[in-house]
Amino acid sequence: MLVTGGAGFIGSTLVDRLLGLGHTVTVVDDLSQGRREQVAPGARLYPADVAGEWVAHIVARERPETVVHLAAQIEVGRSVADPLADARINVLGTVNVLTAAAEAGVRRAVLASSGGTVYGEASVIPTPEDHPTRPASPYGAAKLALEGYGTAFTQSLGLPTVSLRLANVYGPRQSPHGEAGVIAIFAERLRRREVPVVNGDGGNTRDYVYVDDVVAAMVAALTLPPDVYNVGTGVETSVIEIHQALARLAGIDAPARHGPPRPGDLRRSALDCRRLRAASGWKPAVPLAEGLARTLAAMAAAPPTGS
Ligand SMILES: NC(=O)c1ccc[n+]([C@@H]2O[C@H](COP(=O)([O-])OP(=O)(O)OC[C@H]3O[C@@H](n4cnc5c(N)ncnc54)[C@H](O)[C@@H]3O)[C@@H](O)[C@H]2O)c1
Repeated sequence: MLVTGGAGFIGSTLVDRLLGLGHTVTVVDDLSQGRREQVAPGARLYPADVAGEWVAHIVARERPETVVHLAAQIEVGRSVADPLADARINVLGTVNVLTAAAEAGVRRAVLASSGGTVYGEASVIPTPEDHPTRPASPYGAAKLALEGYGTAFTQSLGLPTVSLRLANVYGPRQSPHGEAGVIAIFAERLRRREVPVVNGDGGNTRDYVYVDDVVAAMVAALTLPPDVYNVGTGVETSVIEIHQALARLAGIDAPARHGPPRPGDLRRSALDCRRLRAASGWKPAVPLAEGLARTLAAMAAAPPTGS
């Protein structure tokens, strides 16, 4: 197996699971966000750019049966500020990885898309896969392009590809330093006994899915028919509810501060995941309260590093 982005939050958790299942695992990650220490010693790490020429050499040399492509620029705000830089990594990087995989005779690719951004403001919630897609950000547009390439490589280049539209993933190892990942951001502030800042009124809802459940969906995707699948819980939870639950778990009794709303933030988002469940039997196993407790416990045991 080759996992791009395997030094990151979801990728390193997937690598642990794949090694546990007995797979040989190779990681390609430029370590721009991911951390070398997060890559289990049993995996071979190539520090390389997914949009660069090394990828073809690495895939040809390692000859993985499957490529799971998770490497990406993950900040929506950065994609708005610099759509071209986002597209270089998220679109060209994807085409580069898929091309290298098809040329090396890889049997399957699994791609990380984004259920929180490809639909835009949805008229049906929880949102099924056949809902119209209208991404509001270059990041979402790039993820939709990634899915399109997945279909094209399945149909014309002999590389069966599954795209997973992930909801809002949370859990241990998520960076609290970006714009994404409100649970990691709040948990880190609470750990430092600081008051989290809620953008806007905090009524925005998201579908929070625990990282181990996402990893289980990725493992299921290794044998699924090529298609696009939502991966979430179908449950909407507001930012205020997240803050309250985390504050309670952290034993802190102070209300959040409110800042200005973030322009372009969706009001509501949750995914209908019946397609994946029907195809594989997958369903999320970790309830939010338990996932939050596990996240806080992991953070207390190994405080995040970096700025
Ligand atoms: N976390 C979420 O809620 C969520 C939701 C939907 C989709 N996704 C997708 O899941 C994937 C993994 O996200 P994550 O949350 O683990 O983020 P992450 O930032 O922890 O992981 C991404 C990894 O990609 C690496 N990377 C970035 N640019 C690269 C490049 N040019 N070449 C090689 N490696 C590069 C980073 O170093 C990092 O290790 C991404 O594709 C992301 O878009 C995540």
